[in-house]
Amino acid sequence: MPAPIGTKLVTAKFGNEQARTVAGYEKAGGYQALRKALALRPEDVANEVKASNLRGRGGAGFATGVKWGFVPKDAKNVHIVVNCDESEPGTCKDRELVYWDPHLLIEGIVIAAHALKAVHNYIYIRGEMMREFLVLQQAVREAYERGYLGKDILGTRGFECHITVHRGAGAYICGEETALLNSLEGLRGQPRLKPPFPAIKGLFGNPTIVNNVETLMNVPFIIEKGGAWFNELGVGRSGGTRIVCVSGHVNKPGVFELPMGITFNQIINEVCGGVWKGRKAKAVIPGGVSMPPLDASELDVPCEFDALQTDERIKPVMVKPNQQFDLGGGRALRTMAGSGGIVVMDDQTDIPRALWRILKFFAHESCGQCTPCREGTGWLEKVSRRIADGGGKPRDIDLLAEIAHGIAGNTICALGDAAAWPTLGFLTKFRADFEAAVAAPGKKVAV
Ligand SMILES: Cc1cc2nc3c(=O)[nH]c(=O)nc-3n(C[C@H](O)[C@H](O)[C@H](O)COP(=O)(O)O)c2cc1C
Ligand code: SF4
Repeated sequence: MPAPIGTKLVTAKFGNEQARTVAGYEKAGGYQALRKALALRPEDVANEVKASNLRGRGGAGFATGVKWGFVPKDAKNVHIVVNCDESEPGTCKDRELVYWDPHLLIEGIVIAAHALKAVHNYIYIRGEMMREFLVLQQAVREAYERGYLGKDILGTRGFECHITVHRGAGAYICGEETALLNSLEGLRGQPRLKPPFPAIKGLFGNPTIVNNVETLMNVPFIIEKGGAWFNELGVGRSGGTRIVCVSGHVNKPGVFELPMGITFNQIINEVCGGVWKGRKAKAVIPGGVSMPPLDASELDVPCEFDALQTDERIKPVMVKPNQQFDLGGGRALRTMAGSGGIVVMDDQTDIPRALWRILKFFAHESCGQCTPCREGTGWLEKVSRRIADGGGKPRDIDLLAEIAHGIAGNTICALGDAAAWPTLGFLTKFRADFEAAVAAPGKKVAV
């Protein structure tokens, strides 16, 4: 049965200071799933994860069990790398998860390490998250002391698992998995060309699984209650619950664990107390600012991964008035669930200015490695600023779309798409706002 509102898995211990210690975690039933997993063969653990339909919570929504299956069977020196870089604007869940329940993450990593035969594993945490880094370090220390990490874990003969917590230096691009691996290796944090994918050739040239914090924190529940149980909590091909971080113009913003099938209107009105100041929603970013926005007529769609990509109530993103953005094979780009960062904008929002602010971020964070992104994001920022500032020309609207279309799909990593997609999405759904802005000169943009 799909999870009702109020079902809590990974956020169950939020607010419980005791559960953060290893003793408190054990008291709440912690590390029992690990004991169960160690009694299973590695392939049985992996099969349970596959059956659960757990999908990656870092942005792309890729099926976790399928990803684990890409590691070659006879692979030596496999690594698990946990992505705790969390820098997509609008997203602030991983820091809360790590702060309140660090042992749930460690338990998830050790179970995954058993499934993948991974000995040396890493948590890459954003440099600014000092509080969470200290919590994690303490939890890792306790896990070593209690025998959940180290050699011959829990009396097994030969099962060894280590975790190193590594702080990044606060670059958005280091959340991209291959830039993250470069950064871990001490190189400049710039994405690598794919293929080869990390599951084949990742950290130090070894097969590597990069997973998001929330993804791995679901694994103990899957082992404890079974993949089929977890799958049934969700909707369609998306198992479990989903964390969203709601910010912007709502009465009660926050981080919430919700059923996959909940709609954006329900999230705004039933979970977040409605749009502030009695206003109406104009635009909603569904999963971090990289994703094309929804307009007010599209908010009855569930926040589930497939719905956001395919539901025909969401208008396709247009490149030109009669040309849809083609994701390949004629598939229209609508939007994606991304990292769960929902940003609500009320009906008085200055949309061209909001787009400019998003593009300023991407122009600043581009690593500069490939020309379409390095030049294109800066160009998008300048033109959108001109429009928001009241100095835009009518031709600038199509110019933005042309630049965005030139970037999308033509770069080494998805940061280029992350700038292009919302540009095209805002232009598709709020063209009238841009037309009004180019017709009304003189407004100043705060920097
Ligand atoms: C520019 C960029 C930034 C990203 N930042 C993050 C991030 O901060 N955290 C994260 O988990 N994934 C991030 N991702 C996605 C990762 O590359 C990767 O797909 C993810 O960590 C895989 O984990 P999952 O399968 O559990 O979702 C980013 C991707 C891109 C292109
Ligand atoms: S798309 Fe942008 S961020 Fe990604 S590799 Fe190219 S320049 Fe760097």
